[in-house]
Parts: sequence; structure tokens; C-alpha cells
Amino acid sequence: METTDHVREAIKNRRSRRKLTADAVSDDELAEIITAGSWAPSGLNNQPWRFVTVQERGVLDGLAGLTRYSHILKGCAAAVAVFLDREAMYNEVKDCQAAGACIQNMLLAAEEIGLGAVWLGEILNRADEVNQLLELPERYRLMAVIALGRPAAEDNPQSARKPISELIIKKF
Ligand SMILES: Cc1cc2nc3c(=O)[nH]c(=O)nc-3n(C[C@H](O)[C@H](O)[C@H](O)COP(=O)(O)O)c2cc1C
Repeated sequence: METTDHVREAIKNRRSRRKLTADAVSDDELAEIITAGSWAPSGLNNQPWRFVTVQERGVLDGLAGLTRYSHILKGCAAAVAVFLDREAMYNEVKDCQAAGACIQNMLLAAEEIGLGAVWLGEILNRADEVNQLLELPERYRLMAVIALGRPAAEDNPQSARKPISELIIKKF
């Protein structure tokens, strides 16, 4: 089998992009990103994730009002709110892990199609109000909001990681 490092490169090059423009993100782009999310692994393949796409300015501004990262949502073009469907869940920890895998897939797909994205978790502090704003029943449990847009020209995010020697706690 031919081997490449495309996946590892994509993983390393993905950055949280917080300077986004309000240029439109299309329905097709959102569908690509959600499709990538839906191909994440999940326990028993239960696929517990559900999505709300947001392109309307008023709703983006409403979400912005529910997080201290409001400037990101105010400036961006779209967002996807990711939920777990309580009726599809079977194990709290495993379903949350599946949501994390789903969100990471979405971030990687966004980067690949030239969109900037950032995982917003702080908004979970006001999850009930997000459900109210999006007119969703308690059945849907908020996991994250992903802000999306074209990266602004001045966007130049830097990040760093600990060396793996600090992370591997034991070797047998
Ligand atoms: C669970 C989780 C919650 C996060 N919440 C926020 C958030 O509310 N606001 C934000 O700006 N970034 C948030 N981030 C992004 C992290 O700050 C970012 O991934 C980290 O600093 C590493 O930077 P990088 O993604 O560019 O590698 C979150 C990331 C994760 C995984």
C-alpha cells in the first residue's frame, strides 16, 4: 500500500482560527463539513451527533450573546452547533468521546476546504439558553459550537504542543 503523510500533515496544520470574515459559507460547504463529522467513529456505531447549521446573522448574534467569545461569532459567517441526541445515547462517556471525534473531523474538513474554524466550548456554560435560542427540546445536549468563516488576511494562529516525552507516562 502506498503511504503518504497527508493525514498527519492535516492534523498538525489545523489551527483554531478566530479571525474570520463574514463572507458567506455555502450550504454545500456546511454539508461537506457535517458529512466529515458524520464519518467519525462512535460506540456501537450509534452516531449520536446532531447538528444545527446557522447562517442567519440574527441567530449568530444571538449565539454571540451567550459566550465570552462573542467577537468570534459576531464576525464569522456561519456556525454549526453540535449536539448529542439523548435518545440515541447509550453511554455518557463514550457518546461524549464520539462527539469529540466528530468535531475534530469537522475542523479538519473545514481546514481542507479553505475555511477557518474554531471549537467553542465555553458556550456550554449557557447550553440551556442555546437550546432555547435554537428552539430545541432538552433531548438535544449541546457539545460545542463551531464558528466558521474565511480566515481573515491577518489571521496567523500559532500553537504549540508538549513533546511526547512529557506525555508518555510509562513504557513497558
Ligand atoms: C473542548 C474544547 C473547548 C474549547 N473551547 C474554546 C472556546 O470556548 N473558545 C476558543 O476560542 N477556543 C476554544 N477551544 C480551542 C482551543 O483553545 C484550542 O484548540 C487550543 O488552544 C489549541 O490551539 P489549536 O487548536 O490552534 O491547536 C476549545 C477546544 C476544545 C477541544
